[in-house]
Amino acid sequence: MTAKIKVITQFIVVCLFTISCKHSDEHKYHTVIDKIEANTVEYKGEISSDIYNETIKKVEVIDSDFKFLIPERKSQIVSYKCSECHSQPLEKLKEHKVGEKAAHWNIKLNHAGPETMNCTTCHNKNDFDHLQSLTNSSIDFNFSYKLCSQCHQKEFKDWKGGAHGKQLGGWAPPRLSNTCVNCHNPHNPKFEKRWPVRFNTTVEKERE
Ligand code: HEC
Ligand code: HEC
Ligand code: HEC
Ligand code: HEC
Repeated sequence: MTAKIKVITQFIVVCLFTISCKHSDEHKYHTVIDKIEANTVEYKGEISSDIYNETIKKVEVIDSDFKFLIPERKSQIVSYKCSECHSQPLEKLKEHKVGEKAAHWNIKLNHAGPETMNCTTCHNKNDFDHLQSLTNSSIDFNFSYKLCSQCHQKEFKDWKGGAHGKQLGGWAPPRLSNTCVNCHNPHNPKFEKRWPVRFNTTVEKERE
């Protein structure tokens, strides 16, 4: 009997000891800040958003004050390379049999007005594989933002800084941003007005 009591007492003492130990551990820190600082683990690895963007082919934008990635375009353009057909003058290409549909019949220009813009404002009729600036310098299809920036400086500046457009894959470096033509169709860049997609059933019932 006394042996049993001895064991129980020993057990209780051990228990109390462990509890008090735990308790005293909490008092190791004077403030919560101290505790956070003591337990902070320095992250030694590389933080990168690459894993989210692995499937996207990218090219680099290097401007005087900015450096970031944008999605590659040329492999996404259905009728690229243009020179597969545009190896002879346009006049020659435009000779059709009666009733034959014109090429690019689906492209209707709705951007600025006809006095400001026609196909050859942006496309180089001597080299269809490249775009061209207003001063006839050649622009690669992957860097078509250079074309847009000639006339839309405000949006271009905002885009470089990250305020206009969308970043893909989060905030961790390397920065990858959608380029102008990922969102705007260069031939018809303005978005149509539309209603929000939410459908409010309560309002709908009240109307009945
Ligand atoms: C499958 C052949 C084919 C490919 C590929 C092609 N084109 Fe054409 N394109 C034509 C033909 C044919 C015409 C002449 C228009 C017609 O049919 O009357 C034309 C006309 C044009 C014109 C002049 C339109 C006008 O009304 O004056 C532009 C600009 C043009 N193409 C741009 C391009 C660009 C840019 C590419 C590449 C991204 C491209 N094309 C790829 C066949 C092609
Ligand atoms: C404001 C500049 C601009 C004008 C004006 C313009 N284009 Fe384009 N066009 C572009 C850009 C930029 C691209 C490449 C878009 C991309 O990366 O998807 C393109 C792409 C194309 C393509 C390839 C599209 C595909 O999906 O295969 C064709 C064909 C084309 N343009 C024909 C024309 C024709 C024809 C006209 C005149 C009716 C015209 N473009 C006027 C800027 C322009
Ligand atoms: C030669 C000058 C010029 C070039 C190059 C040009 N734009 Fe434009 N863009 C205009 C003009 C002018 C308007 C009409 C402005 C207006 O209606 O307020 C316009 C209108 C627009 C609009 C609609 C604005 C609105 O009213 O909501 C968008 C979006 C746009 N452009 C995007 C682009 C993109 C993207 C490119 C490059 C692929 C581009 N532009 C290249 C001159 C240009
Ligand atoms: C992630 C998509 C996205 C990208 C990338 C993007 N835009 Fe836009 N842009 C928009 C949206 C959304 C609007 C607002 C349309 C509206 O209000 O109707 C807009 C509006 C505009 C307008 C009209 C502004 C106004 O005041 O009405 C212009 C011009 C324009 N963008 C040009 C550009 C140019 C140039 C680039 C590239 C340097 C670019 N955008 C890149 C989505 C984008």
